[in-house]
Order: sequence, then structure tokens, then C-alpha cells
Amino acid sequence: MAKKLTPKPAKKAAKKPAAAAAAKPSDHIESHLVEKRVFKPSRAFAKQAHVPSLDAYRDEWKRSLRSPDKFWAGEAKGLLWRKKWKTVCEWKPPFAKWFSGGRLNVAENCVDRHCAGPDKNKAAIIWEGEPGETRTITYSQLRREVAKFANVLKRNGAKKGDRVLIYMPLIPEAAIAMLACARIGAVHSVVFGGFSSESIKDRALDSGATMIVTADGGYRRGAIVPLKQNVDNALKDGSTGVKRVIVFRRAHNEIHIEEGRDVWWHREMDYVTPDCPPAEQESEDPLFILYTSGSTGKPKGILHTTAGYLLGAQVTTRNVFDLRPDDVYWCTADVGWITGHTYLVYGPLANGATVLMYEGAPNWPEPDRFWRIIAQHGVTILYTAPTAIRAFIKWGNEWPAKHDLSSLRLLGTVGEPINPEAWMWYHQVIGGGRCPIVDTWWQTETGAIMITPLPGATPTKPGTATLPFYGVDAAIVDDAGRELGANEGGKLVVRKPWPSMLRGVWGDPKRYKEQYWTEYSKQGFYFTGDGARRDEDGYFWITGRIDDVLNVAGHRLGTAEVESALVSHEAVAEAAVVGCPDEIKGQGVAAFVTLKGGMKADKDLKEKLRRHVSEMIGPIAKPDQIRFTDALPKTRSGKIMRRLLKQIAAGQTVSGDTTTLEDLNVLARLQAADDE
Ligand code: WT7
Repeated sequence: MAKKLTPKPAKKAAKKPAAAAAAKPSDHIESHLVEKRVFKPSRAFAKQAHVPSLDAYRDEWKRSLRSPDKFWAGEAKGLLWRKKWKTVCEWKPPFAKWFSGGRLNVAENCVDRHCAGPDKNKAAIIWEGEPGETRTITYSQLRREVAKFANVLKRNGAKKGDRVLIYMPLIPEAAIAMLACARIGAVHSVVFGGFSSESIKDRALDSGATMIVTADGGYRRGAIVPLKQNVDNALKDGSTGVKRVIVFRRAHNEIHIEEGRDVWWHREMDYVTPDCPPAEQESEDPLFILYTSGSTGKPKGILHTTAGYLLGAQVTTRNVFDLRPDDVYWCTADVGWITGHTYLVYGPLANGATVLMYEGAPNWPEPDRFWRIIAQHGVTILYTAPTAIRAFIKWGNEWPAKHDLSSLRLLGTVGEPINPEAWMWYHQVIGGGRCPIVDTWWQTETGAIMITPLPGATPTKPGTATLPFYGVDAAIVDDAGRELGANEGGKLVVRKPWPSMLRGVWGDPKRYKEQYWTEYSKQGFYFTGDGARRDEDGYFWITGRIDDVLNVAGHRLGTAEVESALVSHEAVAEAAVVGCPDEIKGQGVAAFVTLKGGMKADKDLKEKLRRHVSEMIGPIAKPDQIRFTDALPKTRSGKIMRRLLKQIAAGQTVSGDTTTLEDLNVLARLQAADDE
């Protein structure tokens, strides 16, 4: 870890677009800033924004760091409490407790609260299925569904603290199931619908889940994903503690019903009433576990708790997306990721917003699906990922051009650094040069957005997430924990606790400490795993992960996870996985594989291995490149030299220090072995 980090300078932005008139750098912007492509919020946007100027942001940010307890106590007034807290934050590094003594219910905050007044008839969720049907669910309808399903959970034996796996397509029932768990104090763990049976089984075992909520199938590019069948396979060997599976009928594909274990959602809903008072929870009661990849072969269950998480979600959603009552807000993430938790469900609903939810692929039936949806539903805020933006660029400008996107007023991105070219395209082609872009940096672990522009306040520059949110003490430090100066690359840390921070790794306190708090244990800093620098304006430029974690299409994937999937195949002796550049996904997966004696290295086996990884983890983990080799480059102490493999996977000539390499011939042979 002693390596010095010298992040690449940000790529040059695309040539100034012809439509620059539309981008209209505001009249009061200094000319040297225009040269550096700074986009200042327009006067019109700033005037109506929650945070209307950079000064207003800075004052509030300073105040939030000077007296965090006072700041968060003030913000917490925006939640509905059944009992007020006694202390705002107790910090015994690395363990934080927020709002101890307080009691509240997340579902009541996200749903019931908005049913008291005229908002009860406001749309909470506007949903569009991939085949094209739409549903609008008002807050009072949502309340009814959540309460009924909470009763279904209870009827089927779920109690406070029990873990419930949710493995669903992106349909309103996924959100309803999450909120129903929250209503009774059960702990949900959503498993992304693109994950495999193996992944379900691992998560069921690790979390000790007793129940799974799923659907018969879900739609993806016109095909049906056999969700229930995947659950059946996960439970086949009987090793998990899952006693009950509740199945929502979505795709009408044929499924097996295991008597005594499986029940239909719609049948169960007939047995229950809509009366289910929200159960009061302690502030620090667990709300959910979400698995994410780390640097070992086993994903870790990130634990979030009740009050702090909800507060982080609510406050960031309101300020970062500058929510107004009439917004139609669309976050394109699946509920299987943290973005889907915080910015599709909990954050917007806690604010009483109208959320758009779309089930399917962006290019189904044609590459204009997103733009069609925006025009049809009058979407005002769009929050998506750089990988999607790059795909749209590739598909061509004719697709967005077919639709009226003038309802949009704000754009957001998340998941990985956005390249300035993609930023400019998003700004010009989708935002018509008029919408601010919020590039939001955060993690599954942080629960909520940490570094971000505030759209009415922060001048933006393509490629940077800009400045920390309120209460966030982010810094770039060297290995000794010293803060670095402008444009010096180092490690991104957070120096103070924040309400929505993770509270642990489920069942593994050691991993929690080692992963996040050991790097800077002396200082008590949270280590993000990201490298970054700050520019002369103090803006944070995130350069990416500096651990053995890849970011494939905005999704985290541990290299060790893919390696362990590969070596679980009978033909494989050893595997090393590194990232390789990918035009659309940002990073792709490159695998170097040595085979057991007698195994034939051919195309057929390559395909088999790709399929095997997909079955073990999910399609997102499928290696883009597989190279067979008779040895991996190792140091004399036996460590795989990933740096060399990365260069080979990127098609570069291997450079730098190779003196520690055990067998120099390996290198020559590796370079000769191509990916064909
Ligand atoms: C990692 C977290 C939390 C949202 C979805 C991903 C990278 C995330 C940005 C951004 C540069 C970003 C980081 C981070 N990342 N957003 N705006 N700019 N990098 O959540 O799976 O927990 O991954 O995504 O490397 O550590 P996640």
C-alpha cells in the first residue's frame, strides 16, 4: 500500500460544442472559468433552488462541521418521530450511534405521513413495465398495499429482526416489500434480479434469512428472467434456513410451487386487512443489509440502521435533486443496488415525491425507450449512470432527438467517474444545455450521497463530483494520513462520522474494522478505497478504486470473487482477474487462467468458463477476455503481479519494474497469448 498515487490528469473535454449558445455561461461568470469549462447554475435555476448560492452552501457546510450535532438535530426535525432522541451522535471509533433513545418507523415516514393531507392522492410511484403497461400508485394506495403486505409477512411468520430476502423485478411490489419489512421491523436484503442462484444461496446463508419474496419472472429485453426457478435452485440443497417463499405473479411463466414452503402474493393479500400499525423502531435497529463486493472472494453484507440512514436519504434527496412538489423524479437504478434503495425508494418517498420506476432495458424495444418515457410522463429529474450515457452516445443522437425532453430540469449521474465527453453529451443532448448536472459520489457503505454539487449553488466542471455535502468531512490524505495539497493524488477518506454511514458488516465485525478503519486507525478516519485529488478550487476528482475491486458498468465486482468462481470450475488450476478498459462499461473483466493437466485450452472452454462465472455470480461478472496461460507472473514470494496483467489486458506493452518477477519468460509468453 506504500505505492505513490499519481492519478492521470483529467482527460481533455470534447471540443466546445456548436450548441454552446444554449449552454450559456452566465454573464457573471469570470472568463478564466469559462476556459476551464465551468458551468454556473443559471439565475433562473438558482432563484428557486433550496440552496441558491455557493455562499449559502459554504456557510451551511461550515456550520454543519463546526457543530454537527446541532446541524443534524435541526435536520432530524424533518422526520416523524414517535419518541424524540436523547443524544444525536455517540462516536466510539469505529462505532457510531445516531439519535439514541429515539423511536420511529421508516415506512410511516415514507408513506403514512403523506396520507394525512392532500398528498394522499398524489402519485407516489408511476411505473412502466417493459412490455409497456403503466400503473400509478397514489400515496394512500401505497399505504394500503404496504400495510397489507406487512400483514402478509407477519402471517407467514416474519418478526422484528428476521431477515427477508427480496429477489424481484423492478416492479412496485419490490418497493412495497421493502417498506413492508420496514413497517414491522424485519430486515430486508435485496438481491439484484440479475444475480444467480449461487448468489441467492450465499446471501441467504450469510444473512440467516428465513423468508424470500420473489416473482415468477421478470422481463428483460423481451425475455423472461426465471426468478422463481433461480430461488428454487438456491434452496435445492436445503442448506439455507429459508422456510417461506412468497411469489408475486408478474410474468405468468410456469413455475413450481413447493407445498408447505411457497405461497402466492395475491392469495395471501386476500387474507389480510389493511390495518397494520407501523411498529416503533429504535433509531439503531437494523433496517437492511445489502451485499457488495470487496477485496475477498465473499461479498460483504453492509448493515444500515433506521434513523440515521433515513435522515441521510431524506436530506440528500431534497437538496441534491432540489426536489419540488410537482417534480416527476426518475432514478434508473434497480432496487438491487444501494442507489435503488436510497434514491428510488427511501429518499424520494421520505420527501413525498413522485417517483418514476421503469422495469426494463433502456434499448427495448428500441434505443429511445428512456426518452420516450421522459416525454410521456413529463419527467423533470433524471438520475442515471455514466455507463448508460456512454451507451446512449453510441446508439446515436437520433434517438433522443425523436422526443420532447423539455420537461427535464435537472440531471444526475452516479456509479463511476464520468468522462468529460459523456458529461458534455448529457448536458447538451439530454439537458438541452439548460439542466444542471449533479455528479454524485458515494458508496453502498456511505448510504447516501457524500460529494456532490448542489444544483442551484455549485458551479460544475465535467468530470468532478465537486464538493462535500453537509456534515461530510472528506479529505485526500497520504499514507500517513496527512492532508495533501491541491492536485496531489492520494486516498479519499472521511474524517468524521455521518448519520447514514454503515454500522457494520453483517456477522463479521473483524472485516468491518479491517476494511474501513485500519488504514487510518490512529486518526479514526473512514477509508473509502478510492483514490482522488482535489483541484485548486477544492473540487474532488475521483480516480477510482485503489483496492482489488472493479467497477463494471457502475457495479462493484471483486477480482477475488471472479477468481474464486473461475477456480471452482473443474478445468481451472489458477486464475487471476484484473480490469481492462471498456468503452461502454468503463471497466471490463479480464481473466488469466491456467488449466489443470490434460485440459484443452480452446474456444469452447473459454465459452464454458464465461458461462460458469455467469452462473456462479451473474451475467455482469462474465469475463470479457479470457487468456489461457501455462503460468501467471508472480513475485518471488508468490504474489501475482496484477500490474503487469493489467497492462497486458489493456493491450499495452509491459513497462516498469519487473525485477521481482520470478520467471521472466512467463511475461513473453503471456504477451504472445492473445485473447482469440
Ligand atoms: C464506488 C461505490 C453509490 C452509488 C453506486 C455505486 C465509485 C460511485 C462515483 C462518482 C466517481 C464513483 C467509487 C465508489 N463511484 N459514484 N460520482 N464518481 N466514482 O455504489 O457499488 O458501493 O460503489 O463507486 O469508486 O467507491 P457502490
